[in-house]
Amino acid sequence: MKVFEPIEIKGMKLKNRIGLPSLLNQPSAEGGYVDDLTIRWFEERAKGGAALIMTGAVIATPVDENLMKALDFPFIGLYDDRFIPGFKKLADALHSHGAKLGVQMSGLGSPMTGRGPSAPPYPDEEHPTDELFYVTRDFRMPVTEIPLEEIEPAEREFAAAAARAKEAGADCVELHCAHGGATAHNSFISPYYNRRTDKYGGDWEGRLLFPVETIARMREAVGEDYPIFARISSDQFVGERGVTLEDTIKFIVPALEKAGVDCLDVSQGDMIRSTEGINIPLYYPRGCFMHLTAEVKKATKLPVIGVGRIVDIDMAEKFLQEGKADIIFMGRQLTSDPETPKKYLEGRPEDIRQCIGCMGGYLDNQRGCGRPCPINYDIQDEPIPFTPAEKAKKVLVLGGGVGGMEAARIAALRGHKVTLMEKEGELGGLVAALALNPLTAEFRNFVDYLTTQMRKLKVDVKMAKDATLAEVQELKPDVVILATGSSATIPEVAEGKPGVMTHSDALKGKKEVGKKVVVWGFFGSELAISLAEEGKEVVLLGRSGEDSLASDLSWARRWYLLRRLTDINVPRAVPEAVRLSNPEVLYNANIEDITTEGIRVVTTTDSVETKRVIPYDTLILSRRFGERKTNDSLFDELQGKVAEVYKIGDCSQVRGIKEAVWTANEVARKI
Ligand SMILES: Cc1cc2nc3c(=O)[nH]c(=O)nc-3n(C[C@H](O)[C@H](O)[C@H](O)COP(=O)(O)O)c2cc1C
Repeated sequence: MKVFEPIEIKGMKLKNRIGLPSLLNQPSAEGGYVDDLTIRWFEERAKGGAALIMTGAVIATPVDENLMKALDFPFIGLYDDRFIPGFKKLADALHSHGAKLGVQMSGLGSPMTGRGPSAPPYPDEEHPTDELFYVTRDFRMPVTEIPLEEIEPAEREFAAAAARAKEAGADCVELHCAHGGATAHNSFISPYYNRRTDKYGGDWEGRLLFPVETIARMREAVGEDYPIFARISSDQFVGERGVTLEDTIKFIVPALEKAGVDCLDVSQGDMIRSTEGINIPLYYPRGCFMHLTAEVKKATKLPVIGVGRIVDIDMAEKFLQEGKADIIFMGRQLTSDPETPKKYLEGRPEDIRQCIGCMGGYLDNQRGCGRPCPINYDIQDEPIPFTPAEKAKKVLVLGGGVGGMEAARIAALRGHKVTLMEKEGELGGLVAALALNPLTAEFRNFVDYLTTQMRKLKVDVKMAKDATLAEVQELKPDVVILATGSSATIPEVAEGKPGVMTHSDALKGKKEVGKKVVVWGFFGSELAISLAEEGKEVVLLGRSGEDSLASDLSWARRWYLLRRLTDINVPRAVPEAVRLSNPEVLYNANIEDITTEGIRVVTTTDSVETKRVIPYDTLILSRRFGERKTNDSLFDELQGKVAEVYKIGDCSQVRGIKEAVWTANEVARKI
């Protein structure tokens, strides 16, 4: 397969064509140092078979360390010689697994951190909503202009940092010229951000001068035989005001080639204005931006890297075969399963824990650098170690949702004898139900993975089995793990009313969803969109205001939902991400009564109440976690009758996939 063929770039020999792109979420020590945790994080991915490991954007120019500390921003520095020893250890560790180390560099500040080439004149009359609803962070314009006299010294800092990377044993460096307002270099290139009138602004040549000069100085510092990569955004996704694909091909690619770059790492998007090219939500098809990479590839002789929601090796192979790229980067996939290449090579692709694209790590750290991947417990800095069981026990897991299956998987791997009982006719619980929505179909990846593991690990799975106390006792288990999940509650106003159904029943098709649908609760935003796309007339209503629509989701997902459901004027990275007129969205809304005429809804705006009766066929209850109740009645009944009884997942507290997986591991790694 082409994906496992070696490739050489300026003397750097990669054993295959799979790499880890920059993910600014590796652990680091205070003060910006590479430490043992950083090394372990990257080493796992190298051990798993990736040929090239790129660090997250390393800071090449000096920073205010006190400020970074105050911001609790997990950065890695390379602006001083004192950082070299850490990088040396990292390079040695990766080399011992046959992988190469690339160091991505950014610095000097960026519009995202309040400094940039100039203050863009937006919002203006034509673009009044450009004062964005900054979903991602508290980004704000205007930015302070970077003074002319800082530019040349910064170029020298980048060059010195590149020399340090080389001295430490890194195999290549990459200048981060992508992601719009996230980096100094891309914001200098982009007409959206750069309004300068000095030599670093004006036309394409002027705007490209900063990256071009930086690369030239880096080249002087590392010598002719050392690979320098550049990461670019093929399209900034802000339309004509920013960098378009045409601009990239006509101006950026030739300029970078001429400046002496050896490889183009092609990403897309702008971290301030159009994040979904960077943090691509699960709603977008896999590999959805490769057509842009392919255009760049056609325009250059340099090797090209493609990236973006590529979660399977066969797809990577297909893109390489089609000549769309020379190397494929997998970011979140190597986060959810660092061993993806290795497992594929060993002929067991079914063991690959495929990324579900949820951006769940972002829930843990709204600043955007959350590391936890909800489906990979070992991603944490200090997971409970996995060890074989001291004594093989009879373990009974009640409930075959993702939490129950994960607990069964770990317990079986540790040597316990595991039985799993599921009351429904299929495994996967609520997550499997959510996967029936086309928008969140990627959740199926995790259900399929766990289901396969049940079979491979010979877990005794008993389907359609809702165990009673007597049946549990009959099995004489040493351990019972209750993973019986949670159930939706029916609010009083909806009790006994026609056409009322829960979110999961609607998804599972247990009851027929009619033509006129009211979805109650913003948890149902994705379902409301899918039903509208199926041709239903949908009203989505929730208790909170526009600001908190989908606020419990990662912002990459939220941004997309806002685009589709609100008038927030943000550029569209993919054509389908347009504002929908159906569903209609009602904020600050509550249901007062349900009569034969319809659902009486009260909405409150500026303390003024408006009432309206909405005719309906189906009312779907999609209220948040707090509105569900835990199914834990067996817990008390089992006390004193079974030696060890535990609750995990929703059964202990109603939360998300990550907590189900985490609590499963916390129990199954200790029993
Ligand atoms: C948590 C996180 C941090 C990221 N940090 C960087 C970064 O420092 N530099 C960069 O160029 N891209 C960064 N990216 C973008 C990724 O390199 C990659 O292009 C993106 O995740 C899409 O690839 P994937 O779908 O395979 O994950 C980051 C993405 C994520 C999810």
